Amino acid sequence: MIQLIDIRKSFDSQTVLDGLNLEIETGKITVIIGQSGGGKSVLLKHMIGLIRPEQGEVLVEGVDIARLNDRKLNDMRKSFGMLFQGAALFDSMTVGENVAFPLQEHTRLKQKEIDEIVQQKLLQVGLRDVAHKMPSELSGGMRKRVGLARAIALDPKIILFDEPTTGLDPITADAIDRLVVDTQKHTNATCVVISHDIASTFKIAHVVAMLYQGKIIEIGPPDAVKSSQNPAVQQFIQGTAEGPMLDYHLLNI
Ligand SMILES: Nc1ncnc2c1ncn2[C@@H]1O[C@H](COP(=O)(O)OP(=O)(O)OP(=O)(O)O)[C@@H](O)[C@H]1O
Ligand SMILES: [Mg+2]
Repeated sequence: MIQLIDIRKSFDSQTVLDGLNLEIETGKITVIIGQSGGGKSVLLKHMIGLIRPEQGEVLVEGVDIARLNDRKLNDMRKSFGMLFQGAALFDSMTVGENVAFPLQEHTRLKQKEIDEIVQQKLLQVGLRDVAHKMPSELSGGMRKRVGLARAIALDPKIILFDEPTTGLDPITADAIDRLVVDTQKHTNATCVVISHDIASTFKIAHVVAMLYQGKIIEIGPPDAVKSSQNPAVQQFIQGTAEGPMLDYHLLNI
């Protein structure tokens, strides 16, 4: 479904993705883990063409989206839903308008039909009577739910989630995890989830991939990744400051 081949991306002199290869399986939940600042969001944005690589191919159903013109890219984005890090709702729009946005942009549906879909998607993520509210009136967990409702508004084949549970309490985080799993089951979409929450990762993943130093250094079923021999993978899973990933003596903390 999605294949990244030899992707290289730098910002100024900083190389973020360095010859990265990754294949995302159709109809599964792939969770990408890795350090803060390691390039996870940059990687996800390549999959939907928000960032173009300097080198390499981003194949979505065989089409290299890194080389599509803006019109074709916009067309292709209809098959994607994305929950951005921090939800990224439009603050000046109501919740209902936020969820309706992709439907207004990409379809010719009548307002009444759009309203019905908005209600249905909000219910699907467990929200009732919030369509008229402003995002600023919602809790963090509710904002993520609205972001998810907006992401699934067009019934996308591919859903990208950038840290859906970060910043939430464990119970709300678990509810969002379940929502991700249920949404995937319900829609059979191909899901890519970015996380640095280990508990959440192993709860929801069919496949776990770890990004480190600009490359995917480990990928496979959760159990295989858990028992990886790679010291960086083990350090990340155990969550210890000592190891190859970074030396805590060098941190200014
Ligand atoms: N548009 C941009 N311009 C310049 N530098 C950028 C841009 N986007 C990302 N970066 C840099 O690329 C690196 C990776 O950023 P990215 O947001 O992908 O990290 P991340 O793994 O998602 O981290 P976190 O877990 O904290 O969200 C960072 O050093 C960041 O400063
Ligand atoms: Mg990020």
